[in-house]
Amino acid sequence: MTKTTSKVKNQITELLNIEYPVIQAAMVWLTSAEFVAAVSSAGGLGVLASNAGQTEQATGPKDAAEKMRQQIQKVRQITDKPFAVNYILPTFDKERSYDYSYSLLDVILAEKVEIVVLISHGDSSDSSSIKRLQQAGIKILFRDISPTLESALAAEKLGVDALIITGHEAGGHLSEHQISTQILLSQILKAINLPVIAAGGIYDAKTAHAAFAMGAQAVYIGTRFINTIESPASMVCKEAIIGTSFDDLVIINSPVGQLRVIGKYNLDRQILASPQEYIGSFRHMLLGNKEPGYICVSQSAGAINDIISCKALITEIMSEV
Ligand SMILES: Cc1cc2nc3c(=O)[nH]c(=O)nc-3n(C[C@H](O)[C@H](O)[C@H](O)COP(=O)(O)O)c2cc1C
Repeated sequence: MTKTTSKVKNQITELLNIEYPVIQAAMVWLTSAEFVAAVSSAGGLGVLASNAGQTEQATGPKDAAEKMRQQIQKVRQITDKPFAVNYILPTFDKERSYDYSYSLLDVILAEKVEIVVLISHGDSSDSSSIKRLQQAGIKILFRDISPTLESALAAEKLGVDALIITGHEAGGHLSEHQISTQILLSQILKAINLPVIAAGGIYDAKTAHAAFAMGAQAVYIGTRFINTIESPASMVCKEAIIGTSFDDLVIINSPVGQLRVIGKYNLDRQILASPQEYIGSFRHMLLGNKEPGYICVSQSAGAINDIISCKALITEIMSEV
């Protein structure tokens, strides 16, 4: 395989003003200003997510939003390249999540963030947030947690700039539908006119180029980015991913839906009973054995065998196959 990293010109690289169509996925505590800046400096797009750069839970919505403001400012001190912030539309626990979402929205608008990865749990009725982002000229990459052809068509009508389409292979909060990335891409790409970003199980040049060959204009990668040098995840987490085979991966229930975790690791129960345990699982990935929890990954964890720099990863993803 020849390593080439010629810059790519397509609708997504033009829209986002990036060199390579590689986006580091939102991953709660496992993102930080330094990590996001490393991805963006390497020519991809870094994304700050909830609790970015933190080790302790915020005391409330305002505190969480202020901490995000500091992270946004810190990315800008490190790089002048574009980056995005993850904005989750109010969800399950409506009252609580409205406070968190709207406090963050105020900061996104005040800080003039240019790109948002907007997450919908299938309920896009909160169009007021979307309108506020659009009025401010913020580019919206829209990701339905449980995408289908119908939800993609509905998102297109909202006037968002691009769709992130996530298959069931993915890490994080799993889709309610067990549809693979390939099947979703094939169905959705022929039905909509928006640029599509592929997510779920993409970890190397071959999986990325398969998505490009199908018509995706960028790839959105989570689990593979955990095992980079700049990722804030603990060595306990990175080594667990290296030591994982496909047989070790199991799906567990949490208060906000299903997660895929490394089963041989810390799995004493197959359910996370409370939101605190759910949050704890991600803090465990960050803090290692200082915090009990689980290691949440995608199917690609079974194929990841090393820890490389963000720049080397983007070069690998973009190399010819
Ligand atoms: C540890 C972990 C944490 C995640 N946290 C978030 C999050 O905060 N917000 C979000 O929208 N998606 C989150 N996700 C999902 C990712 O953004 C992305 O959709 C997914 O990782 C893509 O699949 P991949 O891991 O196969 O690359 C998370 C995924 C992982 C593995």
